[in-house]
Amino acid sequence: MAESEQHFDQILVSQPADGVSLITLNRPQARNALNNQMLSEVAQALELMDKDDATRCVIIGGNEKIFAAGADLQEMAAMNMTAVLADQRPQYWAAIRRFSKPIIAAVNGYALGGGCELAMHADIIIAGGNAQFGQPEINLGIIPGAGGTQRLIRAVGKSLASQMVLSGKFIDAQRAQQAGLISEICQPELTLERAIEVATTIAEKPPLAVRQAKEMLRQSFEMPLSAALDLERKSFVMLAGTEDRNEGINAFLQKRKPRFTGK
Ligand code: CAA
Repeated sequence: MAESEQHFDQILVSQPADGVSLITLNRPQARNALNNQMLSEVAQALELMDKDDATRCVIIGGNEKIFAAGADLQEMAAMNMTAVLADQRPQYWAAIRRFSKPIIAAVNGYALGGGCELAMHADIIIAGGNAQFGQPEINLGIIPGAGGTQRLIRAVGKSLASQMVLSGKFIDAQRAQQAGLISEICQPELTLERAIEVATTIAEKPPLAVRQAKEMLRQSFEMPLSAALDLERKSFVMLAGTEDRNEGINAFLQKRKPRFTGK
């Protein structure tokens, strides 16, 4: 696989199941704080995985105790306004946002600041019962800078998002699930296993339709409803020209398992 040829220092890349690639954030000594290098490695790994047909779905995870403690505060402390203005980070975030295949965040422990924002870049968040989500930037005299104010409010609604962003308080996995931030809660030792199961199910689906479905779900946050409905229809029509669509319908009618080829 292409990405296995690439050397990364701060993340681990593996393929735990057919069609499933796993990015493990790996700076446990700094609570997986997202320094520039780690964020750039996540972006690079995703760029490689986007081109790699063997990757159908990606999981981003930390370890059993922590997902990520946010931006690296040592690095941030050394940056003045000019340096922040010239920062490459927005480009790394944009690369993560551009990724065209589904991403599942497998979150155990803290997902704070940029860590919570990274989880929210995923299409699905599956969390351990020990997960804590928060945007504590207000305690540092800053605000979330990688989508936290915008994505959190869309995920959990105005009141809870405002409470979290303005007070810096965290929410636990139960609250996150009630609010719609995450789709499932597991025992922490099973979070990754469960994420792999869900990713495997997605990886078995026809890839062109999966990409279109992800894109359309994403557009619901970007476009007015009438324009998004038009786009959904165009996407639906376009998929009628794929071999996988014929295979899927024929397999159903012939009462057999479909064999999708990605064409
Ligand atoms: N940046 C750099 N280093 C960090 C870090 C961070 N965000 N979070 C933790 N560390 C380091 C600590 O400095 C400490 O290093 P040393 O061992 O060298 O002293 C080590 O990780 C362990 O940290 P703790 O002793 O604090 O670990 P803990 O388990 O008791 O607590 C924690 C874990 C609750 C995550 C706590 O570390 C914490 O609150 N971290 C900061 C969280 C935060 O404020 N995040 C927001 C950052 S700003 C941001 O994210 C903005 C953006 O993206 C745009």
